[in-house]
Amino acid sequence: MAIFGKKTANDERILPEHIGIIMDGNGRWAKKRMLPRTAGHAAGSENFKTIARHCNKLGIKYLTVYAFSTENWRRPKEEVDAIMDLLRKYLKDSTNFKSENIKLRFIGELDALPEDIKELMKQAEFDSKDATGLVVNMAVNYGGRAEILHAVKEIANEVKNGEKNPEDLTEDDISAKIYTSEQSEPDFIIRPSGEYRLSNFLVWQSAYAEFWYSDVLWPDFSTKDLDKALEDFNKRNRRFGGV
Ligand code: IPE
Ligand code: IPE
Ligand code: MG
Repeated sequence: MAIFGKKTANDERILPEHIGIIMDGNGRWAKKRMLPRTAGHAAGSENFKTIARHCNKLGIKYLTVYAFSTENWRRPKEEVDAIMDLLRKYLKDSTNFKSENIKLRFIGELDALPEDIKELMKQAEFDSKDATGLVVNMAVNYGGRAEILHAVKEIANEVKNGEKNPEDLTEDDISAKIYTSEQSEPDFIIRPSGEYRLSNFLVWQSAYAEFWYSDVLWPDFSTKDLDKALEDFNKRNRRFGGV
C-alpha cells in the first residue's frame, strides 16, 4: 500500500492524494476517425469510468474531473445538448460505481443545469454517500473564477451581517468556501490533448499543483498513460517555496 507523501520500504512510490484531470481532446479524437464530435464525447465519458476505477484501485483519495466548463456553453447548441444527454445517461448508470465503493460529488454552478440532471446528481450523490474509497468530484458548469467569486460573495455576506471582520480575513476563509473545501488541494493536474493551459480549472486550488501534459487525446488516455504520469510525479521535488 502506497503511503501519501512518504516512501516506505515496501512501496517506493509517492502517490498524489488528489488528481485533477482536464478531460480534453474528445472532438479531435472523433475528427481523426471521421466521426461526429459527440462520438468523441461518448468515448471520453467511457474512458472517465476506466480511469476513475484505476484511481480507486491505486488508492488515490480524490479525483476531480473537468467535464463541462462555464465557457463550454459557447459551443453549438447540438453539441451542448449531446453532452448533457451523455451526462444523463451516465447518471442513470452511476449505481455501477456504488458497488465499487466510489463516492460521487458534483461541483460547479449546478443551479443553471436542467432540473432532471440536478435531480439525478442529487440521487447519485445520495446513493454513493457511504462509499469509503475514491471520491470523484465531477466538475460540471464549473469555472475556477466563478468558484472564487461564489466564495467571495458568501464572505461578503458574512461581513455584512457582522459575522466577520474584513481585517481578520485570511486565505483559509476562501479555502473554506470553495467546492472542495473538505478535501486536500489537487497535487497533480493532468491535461491530455496537447494543450498547455488551465482553462479555468481549479484556479484557487492549483496554486502548488504539479502539472502533467500529454499529446494523447482523452478517449485514448489509458491506465498505462496514467501510470506513466504517476511515475513522473514520483520524481518531482516539491518545495512549496522552500529550499
Ligand atoms: C473536451 O473535449 C470535452 C469538453 C470540453 C466538454 P473537447 O470537445 O474540447 O475536444 P477538442 O478539444 O475539441 O478536441
Ligand atoms: C476544458 O477544455 C474544459 C473541459 C475539458 C471540460 P476546453 O476544450 O473547453 O478548453 P479550451 O477551450 O481549449 O481552453
Ligand atoms: Mg478542447
